[in-house]
Amino acid sequence: MQEQISKIKEMTLQKIQEAKDSKLLNDVKVQILGKKGELTQVLRGMGALSPEERPKIGELVNNVRNEIESKIKEKEEEFKAKELQQKLEKETIDITLPSTKIKRGSKHPVNRVIEEIEDLFVSMGYDVVSGPELETDEFCFERLNLPKGHPARDMQDSFYITEEYLLRTQTSAVQARTMLAKGGKEPIRMICAGKTYRREDDATHSHQFGQVEGLVIDKKDKNVSLADLKGTLEVFVKKLIGKNCELRFRPSYFPFTEPSYEVDVSCFKCGGKGCNLCKQTGWIEVLGAGIVHPNVLKMNGYNPEEYGGFAFGTGLERLAMFKYGITDMRYLYTNDVRFLRQFDRKDEE
Ligand code: PHE
Repeated sequence: MQEQISKIKEMTLQKIQEAKDSKLLNDVKVQILGKKGELTQVLRGMGALSPEERPKIGELVNNVRNEIESKIKEKEEEFKAKELQQKLEKETIDITLPSTKIKRGSKHPVNRVIEEIEDLFVSMGYDVVSGPELETDEFCFERLNLPKGHPARDMQDSFYITEEYLLRTQTSAVQARTMLAKGGKEPIRMICAGKTYRREDDATHSHQFGQVEGLVIDKKDKNVSLADLKGTLEVFVKKLIGKNCELRFRPSYFPFTEPSYEVDVSCFKCGGKGCNLCKQTGWIEVLGAGIVHPNVLKMNGYNPEEYGGFAFGTGLERLAMFKYGITDMRYLYTNDVRFLRQFDRKDEE
C-alpha cells in the first residue's frame, strides 16, 4: 500500500509540474483529491488493514495529501500572477494619446443678460426678488390699478387658467407682492427677472418672453424723483449695452405709473440712421417706466402722502439683442447650437 501511495505522489507531482493552465491543474486536483480521487480511494481501503498499520498509513496519506495541496496552491498562485501580468500588458493605456473632447454647453445670451443686470443693480443697493409665474388676477392687474373691465387690460390679454389665475403677463405683479411684504413702512429697492406670457406670436413677439422689473419706494424727500429714474435708467442701459447708445424718453401710458414713459434706445444696427430693424425710425423701444401711481401705493399698503417712488420694466430679449448685436429675436428661441456657440468664449472674458 505504501508503494501505491508513493506512486500516486510521484505521478501527481509530475502532473502538477506539467499542468499548463489553471484548468488542467484543477483536473489534477479532482482526479487525485476529489471524492472519487485516487488518494481518497486509498483512504477508503484502509478498513482492510491491520490496526497497527492503519495509523501509519493514515499519517502517510495525510502527509502526501498536504504536500500535494500545497504544490497545487503554489502552482495556482503562479498562474494567477501570470494571468494578471498578461492582463496588465494587454490593457495598458497610452496616456499620451489625445483625449476625446467633451462637448461643453454655454450660457444662453438671455441668462448672461439677467446675470449682468442683477450684478449691476446689486452694486447699486437693490435686492433681487422673484415671484410666481402662475399669478392671480388680483396681483397681475387689480393691485396695479387695473380693475376688472379696465380697457388697458386689452393690451395684455393672456392665458387664463381659471377666471382668477393666469400666466403672468408682466413682472409688475411682483411690485405689489413686494410692497405688501414690506408692510407699507420700509423703503424698497428691488429688481425681479423672470418669464412672462402673452397671447402674441409673430416675428417680433413671442407668447413667452423675459422681463426685468425694478421698483424703488422711499420717503418723498429721498431720491425717488423722475430725475432719479432717468439717471438710474441711463446708468443701467449704458453699462449694459455701451456708453455710445442714446436714450429717449417718450410720454406714454401705464395704469400703474403716472406720469409714464416709454424709453427708446438708438438702433444698434444702423446707429440711428433708420433701417428695417428699427422700422426706419432710428430708435427701438426697450423700457416702460414711470412714477408709481398713488392708487398703487395705497392699494398695497403705502401712504402716498408720505411715500413715493418709480418703477420700470424691460424686455430681456431686446436687451440681449442690443448687447450682442442679434438682429432677429427668433435666434434666441430656436436653440441653434451654431448660434449659441458664438457665446462660448464670453465665459473667459
Ligand atoms: N409692465 C409693463 C409692461 O409689461 C412695463 C412697466 C413696468 C411700465 C414698470 C412701467 C413701470 O409693458
